[in-house]
Amino acid sequence: MKTQLENIYENAKNDLTKASSINDLDDIRAKYLSRKGEFNEIKKGLKDLPEQDRKIIGALANEITQKLESTIKSKHDEFYKKELDIKLQGEKLDITLPGKYVPQGHIHPLTSTTNEIVSIFQNLGFSVVIDENSPEVETEYYNFDMLNVPQDHPARDMQDTFYTKIAPNVLLRSQTSGAQIHVMENKKPPIRVVSPGRVYRNENINARKNNFFHQIEGLYVDKNITFGDLKGVLNEFIRLYFGSSRPTRFRSSFFPFTEPSAEIDVQCIMCDGKGCRTCSGTGWLEILGAGMVDPNVLKGVGIDPDVYSGFAFGMGVERLAMLKYAIDDIRLFFNNDVRFLEQFK
Ligand code: DAH
Repeated sequence: MKTQLENIYENAKNDLTKASSINDLDDIRAKYLSRKGEFNEIKKGLKDLPEQDRKIIGALANEITQKLESTIKSKHDEFYKKELDIKLQGEKLDITLPGKYVPQGHIHPLTSTTNEIVSIFQNLGFSVVIDENSPEVETEYYNFDMLNVPQDHPARDMQDTFYTKIAPNVLLRSQTSGAQIHVMENKKPPIRVVSPGRVYRNENINARKNNFFHQIEGLYVDKNITFGDLKGVLNEFIRLYFGSSRPTRFRSSFFPFTEPSAEIDVQCIMCDGKGCRTCSGTGWLEILGAGMVDPNVLKGVGIDPDVYSGFAFGMGVERLAMLKYAIDDIRLFFNNDVRFLEQFK
């Protein structure tokens, strides 16, 4: 039995010198050391030996298996390192290779302009209304009636406003001013809100006009609000949005829902006020309409005009962006030409 053991050990050593990979080592371990391996077969026969021999042969068998285990382990470590080196060589990273360009999207200039304007008003104490109080599909009631717009006003004409087929009085809102009515119906003064959104008009499209565009409506209703408050807030807005250096002018105007009413123009940045295609030769671009909320409008929503007063305004987001970034054509915002959009990263 002793010679048998030594023979197996010799064979195993032989196999081990020929082994060249972790796979080979696994095979050798299975052949000699596993439960069904050659040594175990011998160990099973130990129980039939006389006590004396069993001890000697048992010890020898253990010694041999330990030796084999440790040779296999050190070979395993050696092969593992070699195989890893080969693998790492193959996967070597060249960190000097130029990276792959992954184009990244960014916020549209009209969205960032809206966000900027809204945050100026938030800093002035206004909160934002962009919910069910400011729907794009409106009824005549909110878009015109409650804003004191007379039945025969030309803005109500199909020529100017897009009506839907849902019902005769349902339209795409032509102004964000309807949000004023929704807000005042749902909240008592003091009210201080801005409401950004898209509006639609059946316009002839040119450098200044598109058939949809974006407005930000503003409303401030409380006791003792005066035209001085209106001027103060809007001048402060202009100063913060443009920086103080832009020439602006207040013009008196008319809107059915405000009395008195005004408009604010900012000098055209494309021609420095000399007159060009964008400002149709006037040197100025109108950025907003505003005024003191008409008592009829307050009465309509159940606010007593003898106790409360307020001012409102509606500004054009495209115009404000054009004047800040010297964009000479409103259509550029909607063509989705990446050469234009990429400038606003
Ligand atoms: N809704 C007007 C427009 O689209 C702008 C406007 C003027 C809004 C005066 C107001 C306002 O709130 O008080 O031309």
